[in-house]
Amino acid sequence: MPTLAPLDEVNELMKGIWESGIMTHNGPLVQRFEKEVCDFLKVPQMVSCCNGTLALQMAIKALGKTGEIITTPFTFIATISSIMWEQCTPVFVDIDPETLDIDASKIEERITRHTIAIMPVHVFGNNCDFEAIGALAKAYNLPVIYDACHSVGSMYKGESVFRQGDISVTSFHATKMLNTAEGGGIFTLDKEIDERLRRIRFFGFENHADIVEDGFNGKMTEVHAAVGIANLRYLELALADRKEKYSRYKEILGQNSEIKFQKITTGCNYSYFPAIFKDEETVLKVMAALNAENIFPRRYFYPSVNTFTKLVPYVSMPNSEDIASRILCLPLHMGMNMGDIEETAEIILAKL
Ligand SMILES: Cc1ncc(COP(=O)(O)O)c(C=O)c1O
Repeated sequence: MPTLAPLDEVNELMKGIWESGIMTHNGPLVQRFEKEVCDFLKVPQMVSCCNGTLALQMAIKALGKTGEIITTPFTFIATISSIMWEQCTPVFVDIDPETLDIDASKIEERITRHTIAIMPVHVFGNNCDFEAIGALAKAYNLPVIYDACHSVGSMYKGESVFRQGDISVTSFHATKMLNTAEGGGIFTLDKEIDERLRRIRFFGFENHADIVEDGFNGKMTEVHAAVGIANLRYLELALADRKEKYSRYKEILGQNSEIKFQKITTGCNYSYFPAIFKDEETVLKVMAALNAENIFPRRYFYPSVNTFTKLVPYVSMPNSEDIASRILCLPLHMGMNMGDIEETAEIILAKL
C-alpha cells in the first residue's frame, strides 16, 4: 500500500494546476518538488523524471558510451532492461548471500576493456559496500551508477546515500518510500552531468533551440509532482513507522532460527521486510497460509534476473538464484497497525 497524504492536501495543489493551465514542461510544481526533495535529503540537485526505469536509462545515456555494465542478478528486471535499452550489455556479478547486495570482492574479475560502468543496487535500501566499489571505480576509472530505487531515506556517514557514486537513481513509484504514483529522481553532485540529464529529459534541447543530446521525453508532470509534494510532508513519519514495524517483525520471527534476515550494512531505511526461509517449499507453504487470511506477501526479487533467458544468456549465479527461490517480502506499510504485524508473523511461525 502506498503512503498517501490526505486527499485535501493534493487537491489544494491540483487547484493551482487547473488555474494556471500548466500541466508539464518543468513547471512550478516539478521545480518545487525537486527543491523540497533536495532540502529534505540535503543534496544539491535532483532531476525528476517519469519513472525509475527511465531515470536509469537517462543516467546511462548521460555517460555517452555503450559497452558492458557490471550489475547484480538479484534485482528488479528494470535494472537490466534499462541497460539493454541503452544498447549496453549487463554483466552479472553474484551477490553476498548475507547483505543481498552485489559481492564487491567479485567485481574486479569481471572488468574487461569493454566495461563502461558499474551499476550496483542497494537491495531493499541496504547500502552497498561504498568503500570497495569506490576503490575499484577509481582504480579502473569507471563511473558508478547506483540503482538506489529503494533508498529514499537510507543514509551513509550521516548523509543521504544519493551523494554516493557518480550518479544515484531512485524511484517514486507508488510502492516506494516517497511516491508520485509513477516517478523517478536522478542525483549527482556533478553540475555538468545534472545539466546534461536535464537536456536528455527534454528531447535533447538546449535553450529550446538546438538539439545537442540524444534525448527523449522523460519529464515528470505537474500532477505527479503535486502528489509528491503532498506525500513528502509524511516521509519522516513513514520512515519512522517502517523502522518500528520492521523491528517488531524481526523480534517475533527471530524466535524461529530457521528464518534468516538480510544483514544490514549501514543506514538502511527499512523500507521492506524480507524474510528468507529454509527452502522454496517453505515459502510456498507460508504464502498459502497468509493468502488464506487475505495477507499478500510478495516473492521479491523472484526469479533471479539472470534466469530470464529470453532477455539474457544464462550464466549461473548460485547465491542470487538460491536467495530468490526462498525469499518473501512481508506486507509493510503505514496502513498496518502493530496488531497486523504480529498476526502476520504469528501465522508464519505457526506454519513452520
Ligand atoms: C531495484 C529497482 N530498480 C528499478 C526499478 C524501476 O523503478 P520504476 O518502477 O519507478 O520504473 C525498481 C522498481 O521497483 C526497482 O525495484
